[in-house]
Parts: sequence; C-alpha cells; structure tokens
Amino acid sequence: MKKALSVVFACSMALSLVACGGGSKPTEAPTTAAAGDTTTEAAADITVADTAAVPEVGAEVANKDKPLVWFNRQPSSSATGQLDMAALNFNKDTYYVGFDANQGAELQGIMVKDYIEKNIDSIDRNGDGIIGYVLAIGDIGHNDSIARTRGIRKALGTAVEKDGNINSDPVGTNADGTATVVQDGSMEIGGKTYVVRELASQEMKNSAGATWDAATAGNAIGTWSSSFGDQIDIVASNNDGMGMSMFNAWSKDNKVPTFGYDANSDAVAAIAEGYGGTISQHADVQAYLTLRVLRNALDGVDIDTGIGTADDAGNVLSPDVYVYKADERSYYALNVAVTAENYTDFTDSTMVYTPVSNQLDEATHATKNVWLNIYNSADNFLGSTYQPLLQKYDKLLNLKVDYIGGDGQTESNITNRLGNPSQYDAFAINMVKTDNAASYTSLLEQ
Ligand code: BGC
Ligand code: CA
Repeated sequence: MKKALSVVFACSMALSLVACGGGSKPTEAPTTAAAGDTTTEAAADITVADTAAVPEVGAEVANKDKPLVWFNRQPSSSATGQLDMAALNFNKDTYYVGFDANQGAELQGIMVKDYIEKNIDSIDRNGDGIIGYVLAIGDIGHNDSIARTRGIRKALGTAVEKDGNINSDPVGTNADGTATVVQDGSMEIGGKTYVVRELASQEMKNSAGATWDAATAGNAIGTWSSSFGDQIDIVASNNDGMGMSMFNAWSKDNKVPTFGYDANSDAVAAIAEGYGGTISQHADVQAYLTLRVLRNALDGVDIDTGIGTADDAGNVLSPDVYVYKADERSYYALNVAVTAENYTDFTDSTMVYTPVSNQLDEATHATKNVWLNIYNSADNFLGSTYQPLLQKYDKLLNLKVDYIGGDGQTESNITNRLGNPSQYDAFAINMVKTDNAASYTSLLEQ
C-alpha cells in the first residue's frame, strides 16, 4: 500500500521530466571515460553498445580516481562529530550515503513521548509517579548513535547540556536521579505531573570490541531488570538489533514497551506482540543511493541521474525521501516512524523501493566491478536489511559487487581483503570507526 502510493507520487513528480517508466529520455553523454576495462570482453561489448556510453578502451583509471562511496558510517571525528571533509572530497566522485540522523533521532524521541502520553493509564508500572526508562547505546563515537541518545533525552526532558550540546554519555545507573549526565524530566499528563528518569544506560560493546552488540544488550537488560524490576516502564534502544535482544530476553514477557531504530523485519513484526515502535531510516532508498552514485560516476553522467532526475529506465526519487547536501558531499535519506498505527506497511524491510526498481539496460550501462564492505558481518541492520537490499539493486544497476564482511573490531580485518584495488572499478566503504577513512584511502593512493 505504502509502496504503491509512493509510485503514484513519484510518477506525478517525474511527469514533467519524463513519462514514468517510459525510459524515453536519453541519458546525458558521458563526459569522462569510465573505469578501465581493457579486457577483450569489454571490447566486445563496444560493438553492441551505444558508443556514447562506452568507456574509452585502454583508458586506465588510477585507483585514487575511481568512484568511492562511504555509507552508514560517515567520515567524521568520533570525539566531536566534525565531518572529515578530506575523506568526503577524496576525489571528484566521492560521496557519503546515510540518513538524516537528527531528524530521525527527534522522531524516535517524539514516538516514545507520544506513547507515554497515550498509555499513561498503564505506563507507570509501580504507580510511584516516576516513569523510568533504560537506554541501550550503540557506539559512543558514532554520530548516529549520539544523535539518538540525544533525541530520547531531549523529548523526555532528561537532557543536560554539555559544551553547547546535549550530553550523550552513558549514565551507568541512576536509581535515585542524582546523576549529572542526565537530569530528571517531568511530564504533565491529564492534570498530573510525572517524573521521567533515565534509570540506566550503557554502550553495548562486547569484550572483543564490537559495538551495537545485541548480545551485550540482552545481558544488560538482565542486570537492569534484576536491580530495577518494575521501576522500568520503558526500554529504549539506539537500534532494533539491541532492542529486539532486550525485548526477547525480558520486556516482551513483562509487557514493557521497547523502542528501537531501523525497522528491521523482525522488529516490525514484534510490534504486533508489544514492541513499542521503531524508525525506518529508509534503507531501501539508502541502499539504492549507495550503488547509484557509483553507477552514475562510472557512466560519466550527471550525479543527479536516477536520483532527482529520472534516468532512461524511469528511476527517480521524490524529495520527500532524501536530501542532498552538496557542501557535505552527502545524501541523507529521511526517516519515518513505524508504530502500531502503520507497521503493516513496513513488514518486509528488504523490499526495493518501487520508484527506483527499474532495470538498467546492459547495453548502455555495462557491468562494472565494485568492492563493498560491511564493517561487521554480525550487524543486524546491515546484515538483515541493508545488504539484502544492496544485493537486489546491484542487479538492477548492472554492478557486480564483491561483499566483504568485517569483524566489527578492526579496520585491518577488512583492508587486508582489499589487496588488489586495481581489479575493481569502484569502492563502497563502511568503516569500523568513523575516524578511520585514511586506512582505506591510503590503499587507493598507492
Ligand atoms: C544502524 C544500526 C547499525 C549501525 C551500524 C546504524 O545506522 O541504525 O543498527 O548497527 O548503523 O553502523
Ligand atoms: Ca514508576
């Protein structure tokens, strides 16, 4: 239903540009040669292909000049969040694809607040007038995680400022409300004032160093529930992987609403069983953009092709699903709250986004080789939602992608498997740590 409506919307948006799905608009002629295929196979393609879109034979592209997209972990300082513009401007075909972290974080906070207001008659489990929550933090140095912690604290009134920003540090435990990284909030509902307290929060990092660790969250809720019991009225999490682990371990049986982020299929299904809600970061749009910016650079066409401007197959995104910030070289998908009211529209998180689901023609968009890594092969969101989407879009965009799964701990576990970058036409990178872009770019510069 949601998807069908989006198609209609996208079609009407695109009407002035090109008949939807008509594929009649010619692509712009490439201005630069695409990555260097010098094999006989590539040469054979030339005879059948539209010559305008065929790479110059013999043009060897240096690795440092090949299209590069960072995704999901934006090159930035883990201490300050400041963007690493050197990495984002590595070459003229470098971009980042992610989602609007602040808009999504605000939505998550508001979703929790709305839930409390609507369910005030049952939310305060021990009836002491304090609404207690616990929070699972993904990675204290990852700007998506930081934004979500801030979003929850801002909406619930528990935020404390630090250096002009909301403090996002974990509180540890805060049974009596005396912690300094958070404060007690208050909410007035139905003429009564309630205290809102962050009883506990911690970064879910396992002993080997992997962040956003679902198993660690499952253990933490065991510890928290044994010390706080029915003081816990709400469980909040920076993502669904950790949220579902806590839900399955404790909150489902105890009927405590649990909120996550990502709209992974299992979390959406759990809404029927009492999971409080989640946020879709429009992974269907992000996965498309991740590969699309590479495709466009390889084709030598305008970067907006198949994004804000319909391509020759009719693929186009409407402005309500993403923003592009040219000064940050970044595409950001927009987020949508998924709750009991609308979750049936989101049951399959691996379904391609219909407005960008048209197959490109092999004759004019010849197959190219892409190296792509996932920082941690055990990450719930990237593994169960993002990568399955990428594997659908790679075919639609004629990209042959090698998927490399990291251990979530060290960059070298991944970079060791980029031994011969010359084999590839383009790169898509998901760092372990947002500070570490140079671990990859240095390999491409050699
Ligand atoms: C997702 C998390 C995921 C992380 C990995 C975030 O955007 O919400 O679920 O673990 O990306 O970098
Ligand atoms: Ca209470």
